[in-house]
Amino acid sequence: MKSESQQSEIKNKIRKWWDDPSQDYDGFVGHGVNSEVEKELWRNGIAQLLGHKQNLKILDIGTGTGFLALLLAEMGYGITAVDWSMTMMQKAKEKAKAAQIPVQFEVQDAENLTFPDASFDAVVSRHVLWTLADPFRASKEWARVIKPGGIVIADIPRQGSNSGMHHYGDEIGKKLPLGNGADPDEIIGMFKEAGLTNLNLKLLEKQGEQHRKTLIIYGEKI
Ligand SMILES: C[S@@+](CC[C@H](N)C(=O)[O-])C[C@H]1O[C@@H](n2cnc3c(N)ncnc32)[C@H](O)[C@@H]1O
Repeated sequence: MKSESQQSEIKNKIRKWWDDPSQDYDGFVGHGVNSEVEKELWRNGIAQLLGHKQNLKILDIGTGTGFLALLLAEMGYGITAVDWSMTMMQKAKEKAKAAQIPVQFEVQDAENLTFPDASFDAVVSRHVLWTLADPFRASKEWARVIKPGGIVIADIPRQGSNSGMHHYGDEIGKKLPLGNGADPDEIIGMFKEAGLTNLNLKLLEKQGEQHRKTLIIYGEKI
């Protein structure tokens, strides 16, 4: 168990890493931000889980440069997008403005959201769980801010991916609970603890295409 001050030191370092303006997040092919296959998979995956109810209010956690926020706002959902890095979110804001896509952006910590309980119909998150200093606390927060009947959807970091160490080096990487990915059962357990139920896994893949497959977890609050 890490102390509060150790935890906040880790978080400060991670936040600083994302705030470095020399990062070219969208330019790195592995992030899939400009991949049409990646967009199609998420668009279809979310539509299957949420339907085309355009009045749904969705919170995109750790929006970064806005991959999910922009995609879902284009589909007609009402999107609030949060991230703690101004640098990352500025890029998302610029893209939303250029494309005239309405998204409400806010600086927020994924582990300590300031929204009241039951504010959203759904929480979505892509490529974020692995980098959280306290994903257990975060998932409780995500469950808290959805309405009863609401749904949390997130991708599961691939086991053995070592993203924590690749991004932040050994010192920080080793301290991230999901920094080396996770067994899906571990995430199911974590989401259950957070108060979510009817938990299921779904593989986002396109037959006949060479691309990185994504395993997502979704669960409901009753
Ligand atoms: C790998 S990027 C993913 C960005 C985007 N979701 C995507 O799919 O491309 C991770 C993002 O999570 C943000 N992040 C990490 N920890 C966070 C926290 N505790 N609160 C808010 N944002 C956080 C980072 O600033 C970064 O923008």
